[in-house]
Amino acid sequence: MEVRATTTAPAECGADTIAIAVFGDEGVAHDTPGGELGALLDSGEAKRGYKKLALTHADGLRWLLVGMGRREELDAERARVVAALAHGRAVELGAQTLCWELPHHVGDDIAAALVEGTALAAYRFARYKSTGGDEDGNGLKALIVSAHHDVSIPVARAEIVTAAQNAARDLQNAPANELTPTRLGEHAQELAEGLDGVSATVQGRDAIAAYGMGAFAAVAQGSVQEPALITLRYEGPSAAGPLLGFVGKAVTFDSGGISLKPAAKMHEMKFDMSGGAAVIEAIGAIARLRLPVRVLGVVGATENMPGGRALKPGDIVTAMNGTTIEVNNTDAEGRLVLADCLAHAVSLGAERIVDLATLTGAIIVALGSTHAGLIGNDDAWCAAVEAAADASGELVWRLPRHPEYADLIKGTYADIVNATENRKAASITAAEFLARFVGETPWAHVDIAGTAWSLGRPYAKKGGSGFGVRLLVELAAGAAREP
Ligand code: BES
Ligand code: MN
Ligand code: ZN
Repeated sequence: MEVRATTTAPAECGADTIAIAVFGDEGVAHDTPGGELGALLDSGEAKRGYKKLALTHADGLRWLLVGMGRREELDAERARVVAALAHGRAVELGAQTLCWELPHHVGDDIAAALVEGTALAAYRFARYKSTGGDEDGNGLKALIVSAHHDVSIPVARAEIVTAAQNAARDLQNAPANELTPTRLGEHAQELAEGLDGVSATVQGRDAIAAYGMGAFAAVAQGSVQEPALITLRYEGPSAAGPLLGFVGKAVTFDSGGISLKPAAKMHEMKFDMSGGAAVIEAIGAIARLRLPVRVLGVVGATENMPGGRALKPGDIVTAMNGTTIEVNNTDAEGRLVLADCLAHAVSLGAERIVDLATLTGAIIVALGSTHAGLIGNDDAWCAAVEAAADASGELVWRLPRHPEYADLIKGTYADIVNATENRKAASITAAEFLARFVGETPWAHVDIAGTAWSLGRPYAKKGGSGFGVRLLVELAAGAAREP
C-alpha cells in the first residue's frame, strides 16, 4: 500500500473513497456541492458517536462519515481505531484508494495515527494460505491523507514505523519451523545490509559458551537448532548522547523444556520471540528515519525444548557475570537467556538499557492486553520509557520493586533461583532476577507477554501485534531530542 500526504482536496486527489471525521456537536467541515454529507447527518443515518460509520455516494465517489465522539476525547489511539474501522469498511466496499480528510485543528500525531491505524489494519499474514489470502479481497492500493497544511513529514514517519511494526508481525506470525534462531539471525543480517549505519553479527553455540553465557547456553542445549546471539549496531548521523541498549527475548519456540507446558496453548509459544522481533525491526525503523542516536541491539534467540540433552529442574548454571542460578523450572527460560544478553549489553558499553520480553504469564493476569509491565532500576529512565509509551500508544504500567521481592529469588544451593516457590508477584520477581545482570546501568524491563499478540483492537485483533516497535522508536526519538 502506497501512503502519501497531499494538500489537494479529498475529492480531487484521485481517491475512490473518502473518509471524513465528524465530531459531536459539529457538522462536516467541507460538504459536497450537493450537501449530501450534511443531509446524511441531519437524517440521523450518519452518527457522530465514536466508531459509528455511515456511507453515501456523491460526485461519483464513496464518502464514509466516521463518528469520532467529542472532540475533547480525541487522541491518537482513537484515531488509530477509527482508521482501522474505516479501512475495514472501505475494503469491504471494494475501495482501492482511500483518502482521509484530516480534521481541522488536530496535531501531527493524529495524521500519523490515521496512517498507523490504516496500515496496521491492512496487515495480512497470508503466506501460507494456498489461496494467497484472496478471500479478503485485494486490499487498498493507496492511502492519502489530505490536509490544508503539509503533513508529509508525520505521514512518512508513520509509514516507516508501521512498516517496521508489520515486519515484526511477520516474524512473530511465522511458525517456529520456519523462523528458527538461525533464520532470525539471517533476517537481522539482511536488514542491516540494506541500511546505512546498521551492522549485525550472529554468533552460535560455541561463541555463547566461549563468552561464559552459561544461562543462555543451558536453555539452548536442549534443542537441535543452533541458537543465535544477534548483535546489531546503529550509528546515526552526528549522533551524540548515551549508547542505547535494546535487548530482546527471542525464544523462537518455548515448549517449557523438561518443565513442559500444557498442550492447550503451547502453539502460541511461537510468539515467544516477540521482544527480539521488536528490537530488530525498531532498529530498522530508527535507521530509516536517520535518527541521530547510537543503538546497540542484543537479541538472544533459541528454542526451549525437552530432550536427552536438555536442562533439568535442579540444575545449577553460571551466567556470564558469575552469578550462579538454580534452575527450579525450565519454563522460566526467558530470564536465563536475558540474564546473559543484559550482561553482554553492559559489557559492550550500553549506557541505558531497555529489554522487551514475553516473560511472564502473570503480567497477562495483572494488566491484560492494555498495558505492558514496566520495572526498572532508574526513575529517570523509567520515566523516559513511560513518556515514549504514552507518545506511541504502546502503553506501559510501572510495577514496584521492594527488598521483599528480591528475597523471593534467593537460592538454596546457588545465588538465585529462576522460579520462586509459590509464584507470588511472578512478574516482579522475574524482573528482580534480571536486575542482577545490569549492575548500576539504568535499565528498564518491559514485559510484553500480554501485549505481543491478540490485542483485540480493530488494528491488531489476532496474531502478532508488533508491540514495542513504536515504543522503541519513540524512545530513541526522545533520546535524540535530549540536549
Ligand atoms: N514465555 C513464557 C511466558 C508467557 C506465558 C508468555 C504465557 C505469554 C503467555 C515464559 O517463558 C514462561 O513460561 N514463564 C513462566 C515462568 C514461571 C515458570 C516462573 C510463567 O509465566 O508461567
Ligand atoms: Mn517459558
Ligand atoms: Zn518463554
